[in-house]
Formats: sequence, structure tokens, C-alpha cells
Amino acid sequence: MVKMVVIPLFFIAALLCSPSSRAADFCVGDLKGPTSPAGYSCKDPAKVTVDDFVYSGLAAVGNTSNLIKASVAPAFAAQFPGLNGLGISVARLDLAPGGVIPFHTHPAGNEVLIVLQGVICAGFVDTANKVYLKTLNKGDTMIFPTGLLHFQVNGGGSLATAIVSFSSSQPGLQLLDYVLFANDLPSLLVEKTTFLDDAQVKKLKGALGGTN
Ligand SMILES: *[C@@H]1O[C@H](CO)[C@@H](O)[C@H](O)[C@H]1NC(C)=O
Repeated sequence: MVKMVVIPLFFIAALLCSPSSRAADFCVGDLKGPTSPAGYSCKDPAKVTVDDFVYSGLAAVGNTSNLIKASVAPAFAAQFPGLNGLGISVARLDLAPGGVIPFHTHPAGNEVLIVLQGVICAGFVDTANKVYLKTLNKGDTMIFPTGLLHFQVNGGGSLATAIVSFSSSQPGLQLLDYVLFANDLPSLLVEKTTFLDDAQVKKLKGALGGTN
């Protein structure tokens, strides 16, 4: 008799604890609430509407009047809270002629890039220091595995646009040049750790807004 009760209880407990069990259909991010690497806390489901699942911020060409002649419009959980907890996100890249998305990494997400228009020269470097480089045309798709440094450069004479999507709603973005030249890390340490000379480091800090 005890056994007959214990076994169903065990199954119910296993169902509740299994990773595939779903406590809710979604968890639209509450941007005013606390956040963690796992994401934002959930907005009250009674207040969720279809507009929480629609984002129009990728519709327009981005402003490329800047140093890199390029624009990145992210639709990560912070911009598009409907993505929160779903393990996906998306962004739009626009590269004017001569534009570049400098070497960067997404610490928490694989990336897939689809070229919508123009030509993009893209590449990444793996942890064995091997280079994977390709010129991509309209419709071409390329993958950039989690954490690996990669870049995109306009490879043609006209605007190039791509949609990139990620296997995380908070993939993160860290740009190598910004790490080295856009903060207050002392120039002497930048020189020590990069083998660049003082003049070059000062020049790049000047261009990217770094100090020290
Ligand atoms: C694009 O960005 C530049 C530099 O920030 C700014 O001066 C310009 O007004 C912007 N253009 C548009 C159309 O928003």
C-alpha cells in the first residue's frame, strides 16, 4: 500500500523537476526588476500582450556616420523583453562602404549571420589560432561559434546589411579594440600586453576615447 502511494509521488516529483517541464509558456522580461545571467524576472503574465512579442527596432537602416562606418542594432532581452528566457536573440548589421564591425566576441551565444544585401567579408579565429575567412554575398549564411573573436567588413562598394541571430537572449558583446583602447587601462600596460608602441596606443586611445 505504501509503495503504491510512493511511486506516483515519485513520478509527479520527477515531472516537476525535469528540465523539459515548463512552469510557464514564456517569461517576458521585467526590465525594472532584477537581472542575472539567467535573464530578467518575469513580467506579470496577465499584463503581457502581443506587442511584447513584436519588435520594430530592426526595420530601419542604422546610422553609419561614425568611426566604424557601421551600425549594430541589437534585439537582445534588454531591447526586446519578449525574448527573455527563450535562448534566442537577433540583431541587424549595416555596413556602409568601408565599414567594419571590429574584432569582437559574444561570450554567451553562438551566432548565425545571413546577408540581406551587399558583400560582407567575415571571419573568425579559433582557439588553435586558425583563421576562417569568407566573402559572403546576398543570401549567404555563416556561423560564428560562442566566444570566438570574429569580425565583419564591407567587401563591396555599397551598403551591406545582415541579420544575425544568437543562441541566447543575452549573448553579450565585447569589442577587442574597446577593451584595449576605450577605457582607462594605463597605456603602459596596454603596450606591455599588446607589444604595440606608445605612439600607436596613444593614437588609438585618442580615436576611441580611452584615457591614461
Ligand atoms: C547619425 O549619427 C551622427 C553622429 O552621431 C549624427 O551627427 C547624425 O545626426 C545622425 N544622423 C541621423 C540621421 O540620425
